[in-house]
Amino acid sequence: MVVHSKPAIEQLSNANTCAALLPGIPLIDLSKPDPKSHLVRACQDFGFFKVTNHGVPAPLIRALESEALRFFSLPHSVKSQAGPPDPFGYGDKKIGPNGDVGWLEYLLLTTNSHSDYHKFSSIFGHAADNFRCLVNEYIAAVKKMACEILEMLAEGLRIDDREAFSKLLMDEQSDSVFRVNHYPPCPDFPESNGRNLIGFGEHTDPQIISVLRSNNISGLQISLKDGRWIPVPADQSSFFINVGDSLQVMTNGRFKSVKHRVVANGSKSRLSMIYFGGPPLSKTIAPLASLMQDEEDSLYKEFTWFEYKKSAYKSKLADNRLGLFEKIAAS
Ligand code: OGA
Ligand code: NI
Repeated sequence: MVVHSKPAIEQLSNANTCAALLPGIPLIDLSKPDPKSHLVRACQDFGFFKVTNHGVPAPLIRALESEALRFFSLPHSVKSQAGPPDPFGYGDKKIGPNGDVGWLEYLLLTTNSHSDYHKFSSIFGHAADNFRCLVNEYIAAVKKMACEILEMLAEGLRIDDREAFSKLLMDEQSDSVFRVNHYPPCPDFPESNGRNLIGFGEHTDPQIISVLRSNNISGLQISLKDGRWIPVPADQSSFFINVGDSLQVMTNGRFKSVKHRVVANGSKSRLSMIYFGGPPLSKTIAPLASLMQDEEDSLYKEFTWFEYKKSAYKSKLADNRLGLFEKIAAS
């Protein structure tokens, strides 16, 4: 990847990430009977949890990871033929159109059309088909897991329609995205002055749910409700689930969309793959009627997923994107 001058990338203070006295990340074993109440609590308290015994085959994960690494190991001039992301394709350092940068390169792919793959066929040749097949198979597996989790969450919240959330991902028009992030080792990692270089700046994911898997290199951090950051220990055989902004709205704030970020690593390369499960563009995102208690008002103005995406696209990563759609409490 092209090495730009470092000052362009934000540096983070380590001061508030002390590991002592921090709560552990919720762990949900999907093979245990009835994890519903644990899932609900994790979404309320953290908006984030780790899942084991998820049923996604390890060989599939390994195969896709090695194809992705093969892509990222190509010369920059070759990779950039698959870019810039418009919005799909290869991207390097720049995240979104509003000046955010990070110490990473990435691939952004749609999950329901093949239109973006022509960008890869000239680079990958025949291997482009193999890559596409692996991506499709992987997406199908993580989407199935995401839907099962969303159905357990709906049951845990006692929503009549257990598919109230999952049907948005299963819809043919579901606007979901698949992203592979590669964080190369960062030269002259500024460890000595106690500051970290940002890999991916703090943000919340706008969709309903994100399913993340990374190799065994750490870097991901989540923000607790009190603003402290906690490092998420890497675990290549598990998945990490984020509550997205849309799920926060659909639960009228019961579930928290988790703020997270990635810090760069001095010596090792990190690879993460994230499936972002989103609703159809025309879907109105609003609290589910069956969740609203007597007299409970929606905390949010009504908007469609298209409107929210358009608004998010105009914002910086760290902006409180949902803030624009919150109702101001009448005084
Ligand atoms: C993202 C994200 C984290 C990671 O792509 O939205 O938060 O570990 N990525 O790459
Ligand atoms: Ni994210």
